[in-house]
This record gives sequence, structure tokens and C-alpha cells, in this order.
Amino acid sequence: MPMPMPTRSIVILTGAGISAESGLPTFRGADGLWKGHRAEEVATPEAFARDPALVHEFYNTRRRLLLDPGIAPNAAHLAIARLQSEFPGEVQLFTQNVDDLHERAGSPDVRHMHGELLKSRCAACGAVAECRGDLGEESRCAACQAPGVMRPHIVWFGEVPFFLEEAVAMLRSADLFIAVGTSGRVYPAAGFVRVAKASGARAIEVNLEESATAALFDECRIGTASDQVPVLVEALLAEAAAAAFGD
Ligand code: OAD
Repeated sequence: MPMPMPTRSIVILTGAGISAESGLPTFRGADGLWKGHRAEEVATPEAFARDPALVHEFYNTRRRLLLDPGIAPNAAHLAIARLQSEFPGEVQLFTQNVDDLHERAGSPDVRHMHGELLKSRCAACGAVAECRGDLGEESRCAACQAPGVMRPHIVWFGEVPFFLEEAVAMLRSADLFIAVGTSGRVYPAAGFVRVAKASGARAIEVNLEESATAALFDECRIGTASDQVPVLVEALLAEAAAAAFGD
């Protein structure tokens, strides 16, 4: 019997579920409402134009929580960073999360498709800057000095996510796609599994429950990210070591 081809190129997509055990609420879980608002109601350019104070408060609250000393990466973030450093092939990481827990876990080249909470953007000159404090209507751009134009560096509903072309190119040449902690309800990220499968990749989902796109995956590992991701990483590293030994 021919040996299965060894995995050489992995693309990982993470969502809010991977950070849930670190204490950051997901969007669609029971705790996913904020002051009676769904995230989609505050995460739009229209909401920002209508009520900038409300939208700033939404992101200021999330930023303060992220910077709380009690918030840290969990075993799933750490396992992905380990895979990126030890796997003898490519491991590309895309996240829908705006937190920095992958970076804190040691992951290089984290591609934040929906932006980053710890950055601000000037709507006038486009300058992106580090942002660890509150933003408000009075905030001034450090680059162009314009007042009242600062927004969180977040991709809102109706805006185009970052790194899409790169993601599609990498998914087309990947032989394994892994989605962790994402409900599969927000496109284009929810379509990644289709792109990967169309190019012949194997696809594995890790989630607390089956996502909206679960049927498209070859395998669904149901459980918490902090339990399941380290086990999967261990298996992938063992498989790679066995393939190298067999070469
Ligand atoms: P969701 O909140 O939609 O989904 C989180 C998923 O994680 C759910 O399927 C949960 O069952 C699962 N989950 C929860 N806890 C988990 C755990 N401990 N281990 C494993 N899985 C767990 O979050 P996303 O899919 O990331 O966009 O949402 C996608 C986008 O919708 C977000 O990036 C955001 C949001 O509105 C923007 O803000 C543009």
C-alpha cells in the first residue's frame, strides 16, 4: 500500500473560540452581547458615523479587558506557536481575532484579517499606530495632527478583510487546513475550507460544537481548543518526525 503523502504546508485559521479560555468573550456565545447590542450592530462604519462614542466605548472596553494582567495566551495559542517553530514545513497563521494572544504565545507573522485592537488608524491620513489606551472623538492623529478622525484599526462589517489574496494563495498550495474556534458564519473566512478542499487539502476543524461549515471538513474534533489543539499539534509533529525517519 502506498504511504500517504507527508504534510508539508499547513494553513491555520483561528476565531474567537481559541481565546475564550483566556477570558475573552466570543461573539456568538451566551456572553456575546454587549450592553444589549450584537457585535454586528456596533462593528460597522454606519454605527461609527451615527454614534462614534458608543463604538469607541465598545472597543475601549474590549481593549481594557485585553490589557488586564489576568489575560494570557492559553495552551491552544502556545501549541500553535510550537507547531510554527518545530514543524519541518510551512505553517501559516490567519486569525479573525483582534487580540494579540497569538503574538504573546510566540507566533510569528500573525495575519489579523479583522484588524488589531491594540492599533488605531487615522481616517484622514491612514496612519496606523500602536494604541494601548482609550480612543475617543477628541483623539488626535499623531502623524497628521487631525482631530476627531481616529478609529480602532478594526475591519468592520461591510469593509474588506486584510490578507485575503495571501490567504487564498496559501490555501491553494496547502495540504492541510485547520480551523480552530470559529463558528463559520462570517465570510470570507468561513469560505477558506472550500478553497482548501478544492485544491486537494485535508481539512480539520477544532471547535466546542460543529460549526456552520462542519460538513465540509474531513474531521471535526469536538472539545475545547486548549484540550484539542495541543493533541493535534503533538500528532502532526510526530507524523512529521516519522515521515523524516522514513525518507
Ligand atoms: P464566534 O463567536 O462566531 O464563534 C466562536 C466559536 O468558538 C463558536 O463556534 C464556539 O462554539 C467556539 N468556541 C467557544 N469556546 C471554545 C473553546 N474553548 N474551544 C473551542 N471552540 C470554542 O467567533 P468567530 O467565528 O471568530 O468579526 O467570529 C467571526 C467574526 O465575527 C469575528 O472576527 C468578528 C465577529 O463579528 C468582526 O468583528 C469583523
